[in-house]
This record gives sequence, structure tokens and C-alpha cells, in this order.
Amino acid sequence: MASLSIRGVRKVYPNGAEVLKGIDLDIADGEFLILVGGSGCGKSTLLNMIAGLETVSAGQIAIGGKVVNDVPPKSRDIAMVFQSYALYPTMTVRENISFGLGIRKVPKNEQKKIVERVADTLQMTHLLDRKPAMLSGGQRQRVAMGRAIARDPALFLFDEPLSNLDAKLRVEMRAEIKLLHQRLGSTIVYVTHDQIEAMTLGDKIAVMKDGVVQQFGTPQQIYDRPDNLFVASFIGSPSMNFLRGRIDAGGFALEHGGATTVLPLPPELAALARGADVILGIRPEHITDADSARAGARAGAYQPTTVDCVVQMIEPTGPDTLVFTVVNGVRITCRTHPRAAAVAGQPLTLAFDLSKAVLFDPATEQRIA
Ligand SMILES: Nc1ncnc2c1ncn2[C@@H]1O[C@H](COP(=O)(O)OP(=O)(O)OP(=O)(O)O)[C@@H](O)[C@H]1O
Ligand SMILES: [Mg+2]
Repeated sequence: MASLSIRGVRKVYPNGAEVLKGIDLDIADGEFLILVGGSGCGKSTLLNMIAGLETVSAGQIAIGGKVVNDVPPKSRDIAMVFQSYALYPTMTVRENISFGLGIRKVPKNEQKKIVERVADTLQMTHLLDRKPAMLSGGQRQRVAMGRAIARDPALFLFDEPLSNLDAKLRVEMRAEIKLLHQRLGSTIVYVTHDQIEAMTLGDKIAVMKDGVVQQFGTPQQIYDRPDNLFVASFIGSPSMNFLRGRIDAGGFALEHGGATTVLPLPPELAALARGADVILGIRPEHITDADSARAGARAGAYQPTTVDCVVQMIEPTGPDTLVFTVVNGVRITCRTHPRAAAVAGQPLTLAFDLSKAVLFDPATEQRIA
């Protein structure tokens, strides 16, 4: 197990494209780091540089306190799991898992013990004598993971390992990976563009865009206090709502239905942005039906402000019903209780709780407060 430190790392490909523009990230021994961001933002490039499969154009990468810029991949003590599992088709699961051990001249009886322990950990003892063609996608992915675990590396690198699996299997494997991390205490860097995987798996998340880390923090920090509009809109499902308006009379002046409603803000937020034009960010769970809001208020949580809207569309998810409506010309998403019985085309009174709202500067798109 090892810590990982990335300092001022840049990548310029031979064609002159600068795809990483100075990356700084630090994770402690045993931490689970998620690299998340849209397609082409440089996640795999960074992972490949940690693995030693790509050269570092500038900056330093250290594993366990040792700079590895010039250390060849096989000497870095890492194991990598890719999106395509790349199992050897002619070998059994057992042979696939022990292949790397054979190369490293681990004695045969020791190999057997390791394979059995790994198979037990991943609950695939019954699959050991099958060939990859006789396995489901999820089972193959588990074998690829087993091959990585068998090596007992200082650092695990995963590049979108679940993206080939169907939705149900993804959720199951996500939980397995998390349990595995809890059990092994391994240091992991995990690339995904799935923000739910990012939120649920990571101890730390680095949200990337265009070769720049937009924010690095715990999932809760990133969810509650996104540094800028990009991070705010990228993390969270359904996405955060954004409304333009002005800070006035201690609140956010919302233009809606030909009138202005002042939604009270916590005093420290209102004071910070007094008189300013802002973008208000509010998550769907903080806009709800009036009854649910009253129930919350009774528990002493907050005093919501109600706004009358017309329901455009609903999405019942089971525990909640998502309500889509238009406020001040913008489509917004709200999380209501099913008993509020929202109906498309009908009016609904929505309660806005701004105690967890965030404000962004419309020009810089950075969070003000
Ligand atoms: N060998 C290369 N030469 C030049 N440009 C490259 C090379 N490999 C990748 N790129 C470019 O670098 C950028 C980052 O690519 P990378 O594969 O790291 O993105 P990613 O974040 O992993 O995306 P995805 O989510 O689609 O896998 C892209 O614009 C890509 O086109
Ligand atoms: Mg990639």
C-alpha cells in the first residue's frame, strides 16, 4: 500500500496538444481517489502516466514517497484494470489470475494459495476452471479484478472498469468494489465519467475539465460546496438547478409569474453578495411540495418560501416524485413526496429552502458563497 502525490503534472502529446495543464493531487495510503470528468478531459492520460504507460511532460509523480517519473511500469508495483478486461481467452480463470504470479516466479504452491484466497474474496471459487467465454460480463470483470488483487500491488488503477456492464450489474459491482476496498485497505485511483460512481465510491474526488482539476475534495464537500458552475452541474443527479437573479432585501429576488418573490437567504450569504446579480444554485431536494417542507420545518430545519408553479412533467422514482416546472424561463427539477400527487399541467405550490443554496458570479462562474 502506498500514498500517491501528483505535483504540477503536465502532458503534451507529440502532436503538440497539451491535454493536462498542471495537475496537483495528493492521496494518503489506503485512500480511494476518483478522477471524474467528461470525455476527453484527460482522465486516462493521467492514469496512464501514473502507471508509467505515458511519459510525464513536466512535474512529478511519487508513489509511496518515491518519485517514479523514470521508473518503468513493471517496477512501479501497480495493478491496472481497464474497461475491456483483456483476459486470456485460452486460459482458465485460475490461469488468468495466476499468470502474473508465474511471470514473477512466485512458487507454484504459493500461487495456488493466492489464487484460492483471491477467488474466495471475490466469491468466484466455483468459476476457477472455466474459460472466459463461459463467463458473464460481470464475472469476467471480477476475474480482471482478481488478477489485479493477486499481485498485491502498492496501488490499484481502474479505468472505467464497469462501463461495459448493464445497469444492474454496475450497481452490484460498485458495491463489491467498495467492500473490497474496505476489506483490503488498498490505495485506489479510479477513473469514471459516472458521477454516481464518483459520489458513492470515492474518499476523494477530482473533478476534471479540459486537462484542469476543477475541484479536489471529499464527495460531500464537492456536493455541498461546488467551487464553480461546472462542478455544480456535473455532480448530482438530477442536476442542481440554476436561477439568475439579484440579491435584494436579505434574499434572492426571484422573478416569476409577473411578480418578484424574495427567497430569504442565510444572512451571511445575503451580506456577501448584497446588490449583486448572481446565479443561484439549488439542488432538487431543496425544492419540494409545501407539505413535505412544512414537515421539515416542524423539525426545526428551516423556513421555506413558497412559490406557485405549474407542473410541466413528473418522473415518479418510487420514494420521490421528480417534478419539472419552469421558473423565470428556466426548467427546474424538484423532489417531491409521492403523496403530493403532482400532475402534469396542474398547479403546485413549491417550497424553496435556500439554507443550503450556493451563489455563483455570472461572469466568472465561480462560487461567491
Ligand atoms: N496519443 C495521443 N496523442 C494525441 N492526443 C491524444 C493521445 N491520446 C489522447 N489524446 C487526446 O488527449 C485528450 C485526453 O484524452 P484521454 O483519453 O485522457 O481522455 P479521457 O478523459 O480518458 O476521456 P474518455 O472519458 O473518453 O475516456 C483527448 O482530447 C484525446 O483526444
Ligand atoms: Mg478514458
